[in-house]
Amino acid sequence: MNNPVRALLGLSGFALVCAGLLGGIDYMTRERIAENIEQARKLKLLEVVGAVVAPPVEIGELTLEGFGYAEPRTGHVIAQDGAVRAYVLPVRAPDGYSGAIDLLVAVSPDAEPVVFGVRTVQHRETPGLGDGIERAKSDWILSFDGATLEQPADWRVRRDGGDFDQLTGATITPRAVVSAVHRALLQYRRQHGELQGRPVLWEDAGEDAGKDTGDNAGAAGAPRR
Ligand SMILES: Cc1cc2nc3c(=O)[nH]c(=O)nc-3n(C[C@H](O)[C@H](O)[C@H](O)COP(=O)(O)O)c2cc1C
Repeated sequence: MNNPVRALLGLSGFALVCAGLLGGIDYMTRERIAENIEQARKLKLLEVVGAVVAPPVEIGELTLEGFGYAEPRTGHVIAQDGAVRAYVLPVRAPDGYSGAIDLLVAVSPDAEPVVFGVRTVQHRETPGLGDGIERAKSDWILSFDGATLEQPADWRVRRDGGDFDQLTGATITPRAVVSAVHRALLQYRRQHGELQGRPVLWEDAGEDAGKDTGDNAGAAGAPRR
């Protein structure tokens, strides 16, 4: 066999071994990565309701339309001792300084919702300016805790005459977040009656428990026991 052919065979063999190794690593780590993503998702959900509901909790999924997204998204229902305690809404602010900002907004299951917490899950705002909407960077996102549609009276940033502080040197980002959370609350209140009848897929039960009536009046069905 001449040298070029031998080199080609050698290279092909090497490429095959590498592909096999990569495939093997991918196979071995896929489950672990999925578990980590799931764990991170749960931690974020627990964090956003953390001021009001402490573990252990039951987590259910439901499909939500709107809330700033063009496509339906998965929202969450948090229950404890068989009663629904919170909804966690996926909310998008389309008009950040650098594009869309994705948020989680936790609200009480009441017809007049109380905000339990808001967290930023994804954004491209400028480090040192707009990224103050991250909990890790500042306390600003905590300004929503306990808010309702009536209190504060004016859901705008102070620069626009409202009751929410802006960030130093950055008004566009907080303006986008405040108005997205406000719109989400208005949508939630409008749909409240209909939302409670929606099917919920409870994590542990793995079944549709949406037809049950929870202990919490006006809330979606709590998990079956
Ligand atoms: C490079 C650069 C990046 C900026 N990034 C942001 C940002 O992420 N969020 C934001 O609200 N404003 C950002 N700004 C500032 C806005 O252009 C605007 O001036 C500001 O939001 C207005 O806020 P102020 O009225 O408090 O000054 C940035 C400005 C520059 C020059």
